[in-house]
Formats: sequence, C-alpha cells, structure tokens
Amino acid sequence: MRGFDDSDLPYASPRPPPERAHMSAGVDLDPDDWEKFRAESHKALDGMIDYLRDVRKRPVWRQPPQEAKDRFRRALPLEGRAFSDALDDFERFIKPYATGNTHPLFMGWVHGAGTPVGMIADMLAAGLNSNCGGRNHIAIDVERQIASWMAEAFGFPPEASGLFVTGTSIANFLSLLVARQHALGDKDVRLNGLWAIDEQLIAYTSREAHNCVRQAMELAGLGARNLRLIASDERRAMRVGDLRRAIAADRKAGLRPFLIVGTAGSVDTGAIDPLHRLADVAHQEDLWFHIDGAFGALAMLSPRLKPLLKGLERADSIAFDFHKSLHVPYDAGFFLVRDPEVHRRAFAANAAYLTRAQRGLAAGDSWPCDLGPDLSRGFRALKTWFTIEVFGAERLGQCIEQTCRMAQRLEGRIKESNNFFMRAPVTLNIVCFGVKDDPDGALAREIVMDLHERGEAAPSLTLLDGVPAIRAAIINHRTEEANIDGFLELLERAVVRARKEPHMLEPLVQPPSGPGRSRLSED
Ligand SMILES: Cc1ncc(COP(=O)(O)O)c(C=O)c1O
Repeated sequence: MRGFDDSDLPYASPRPPPERAHMSAGVDLDPDDWEKFRAESHKALDGMIDYLRDVRKRPVWRQPPQEAKDRFRRALPLEGRAFSDALDDFERFIKPYATGNTHPLFMGWVHGAGTPVGMIADMLAAGLNSNCGGRNHIAIDVERQIASWMAEAFGFPPEASGLFVTGTSIANFLSLLVARQHALGDKDVRLNGLWAIDEQLIAYTSREAHNCVRQAMELAGLGARNLRLIASDERRAMRVGDLRRAIAADRKAGLRPFLIVGTAGSVDTGAIDPLHRLADVAHQEDLWFHIDGAFGALAMLSPRLKPLLKGLERADSIAFDFHKSLHVPYDAGFFLVRDPEVHRRAFAANAAYLTRAQRGLAAGDSWPCDLGPDLSRGFRALKTWFTIEVFGAERLGQCIEQTCRMAQRLEGRIKESNNFFMRAPVTLNIVCFGVKDDPDGALAREIVMDLHERGEAAPSLTLLDGVPAIRAAIINHRTEEANIDGFLELLERAVVRARKEPHMLEPLVQPPSGPGRSRLSED
C-alpha cells in the first residue's frame, strides 16, 4: 500500500513556486522572500544558542537603561519595519535585560532555568500554532500523554485527568472549584451560585501556604475569612493536631469543612506537610485533599527524595509546575485530578459552537476546555514532552536531587560563617538565612539589592517571623558546588560593604494586597 503523500490532495498540483511573488492586491503576513527570512531566522537562533551556552559569562541581572525602557514607550506603529530591524532591537534592548533565571547564581523566588531543548520545542510549537482548547488533533494526545505520565509518577490511577495551565496559582484555584463542586454537587453551585447555599464552606491549609491559596478562596467567592491557616511546627510543616481541632470547632459552629490544601515544598522555606497524615484526616472527615506541589511534587522523580512525599499518591488533586523543577520554558503549570468525572463536572458545558462530532476534526469526547476555563490554549505539552523524552525521568530526578545537595552545601557554609546564620531548616532546595547582629533585617535587604545591582547573584527576600531573611531557592540545574562556594564569597564581601556603608534603608516594598494581609506580612 502506498503511504500518504500530499500530492494526493486535489489542490496540491501543480506545487506552488518556492518563492511567491509579492502580490500588491492581497495582504498576508508571510515573508516576501523566504530565503532571506530563513537566513535571518537562523542567525537569530544561533544567537540564542550562544546566549545559553555563554550564560555563565554574563552578569546575572542588569538594570535596563533608560534607552532600553524608552524603546518601549513609543506610539503604535502604523507601518511595519524589516524583520531584521526588529531582531536588532531584540538584541540591543531586550536580550541583555532579561530576568536572569538562566544563570546558575540566580536563586530568587522559585524560578526554573529553562533548557536549550525546551527553547527549540517552544519554537516548534509556535510554528504549528495549535489551539489546544479541544478538537481532534495530535497535540491533545500529547497533553494526555503528559497526564498519564504524571499519574504514573505520582501513583495516581491511569485514567486521572490533567490539564496544562499557566502555573500553580491557577491550578490551585481550579482545585478549589473542583472541590467546591464536589462538596455542593446536589446544590448545583454552577447554576445557582453561592447565594443559594445556606452553609459556609471552610478550607484548611498551613500558615506557610502560598498566598495564591488565599487568593483562590477570594476568587471562588468563598471568602478568605473561610480559609483557616493552621499553625506549623519547628520544621514549618502543618500541625495535624491543630488541623483536627480546627475542623471539629468549625463543625460544632455549624460550618461546612470541605477542603484541605497540603503543601509539598512551601514557598518560603521548602517545608513539606505530613501528607500521609493529612490524607488520613481528609479521608476520615470526608474532605477533598489537594496538594500544592508547585516545585516540590516533582521530587517524586527522585527515588531518594520520594519518601519525603509519602501520602502525595493519596491526594484528590495536585497542582505543580513543569516550569520550575523540570525547567520547561515558561509557562507550564499542571493540574492533575484523580477522578476525571469529578474534574469534568466542575467545568464541562454544552456550547453549540463546540458541538462534538462522531468523526473529523470535531471528534473526541473530552476536550481540555471541559477541564478548565481556558478555551484558547497553546501547545504547552510539546515543550514538556520534549523535555521528558530527551532527558528522561531519571536524569530529571537527579537534577532535582542535585539542587537539594547544593542547598545542603550552602546550609553548611552558612553555619560555618561568622557573618550569617540559618533562619529555617532546609527540607528541599530553599535556604533562608540572616545576617548576624542585624535584628531588623536591614543588612539582609541591603545585601540582596547590592548583589542584584552588581549582577553577581540573585537571591531574594522574604519575611520569617516578621524579620527579612535572605532566601536562596536553588532550583537551577546549572548551579554547581563552585557556584555555591562563590556565592558565599560574594555574600561575605557584600556584608563587609553593607556594614561599612550603611544606607538609608527604605522599608521592604510589599506586593499590593487586598483587605487581608499578603503572605509576606503573615509571618
Ligand atoms: C508553593 C508554591 N505554590 C504556588 C506557587 C505559585 O506558582 P506559579 O508562580 O506557577 O503560579 C509557588 C511559586 O513559587 C510556590 O512556591
């Protein structure tokens, strides 16, 4: 039998000429000269490959100069320019002033580092320009492949459903909507809204949880006041006894507990809640058990780290990011749900224009748009698929293990230092430390700003027990022992500078928050 050949198609012959003459009558957005476009594109790609190869030779971060900022304050261009001119602007005004999270000494917040493979995969996905809201095309199968791989890695049943989203913040929000729907199924909250419900739904999480959990309560209309922030122990993990007592008190007060959000890798210190015990409580109390595993859940890929996450396999849903520990280029958050039917019930709808067909492009029972609010969605699965295919789960797990080893090394060096001291225990790959004789954290803040401005390293700041701490989140697969030792030297020099030249220190700038307090002010 003859294989498929596109010359079989009725319009495929004769083949179009390789270079289309410019037609003034029509307007399209393809290049007039494909060969010129090819040459310019190859040059740009070579430039990006060099950029990643040479990442260690550049400063971690540079303040964008006024000239670069001004470049992006112009009026809307009515006429286009040559592609090569726009590429020149990219080289001059954008490329040198990126976040810096590709660099091994970037340790701020929790940022993945990306990979060259991921970069190319993202470019290929952009070429296909698939809309992954639904329909019958191969990108949907790739996304399902990722869901079934994650079900396998996390010990979920193979039919578990999964959905790419921007990040864990949104995945946590979706988990609340699924849990809400699950709890109120008979009352049909999607139709009637919350006003028709005569009970207050109460959720529980640790006080170490990311602020997006609180935000999810706000967005879901459940109210931040109905989120109980349970105290944590000396390792900053949730106290299960306190959780049980809070649930009992709420039930006694006539309220309706519906959800426990456990944290596998807390944003400030990397603490892991006792997931197994939380699963017991959720089971006994008949509550939805969701886990925020933004950067911690994928430690399941490491046989050495996996025991820390015991109980994760018992969750009803998990939120996590491929763009963090797996270095898939931004953005690639994921939401995994044990029971696909419960997941569907929270979002699926019957819009006429999304009618499913028995055959053809509109075929398929379950589309990604049945599992979340996004209808137009990019092909995030491709860069994730390439990453897992090319590196394999074992090596990716080893990379996560390596970041934890680097965190332990930094912890050891901090403990030896005369100038710094540890502020929190290290569980995974986040190290929080302070400066000795710096009771209000003023020197800590100064040191972080100084290191950023010099382009030497990029740790970030957080507040622990109300006092600023320097926070090194060692997520980057490029960070090696020499980088950790070098970081310590940079810190020692920075502290000397900070002590010598005390600056007029402004208060720590906090992100805007709603009527309640942000995570930063809660400690
Ligand atoms: C524990 C935790 N949860 C949620 C988030 C938010 O994830 P994203 O930035 O992908 O929305 C983070 C981010 O660092 C996190 O560490």
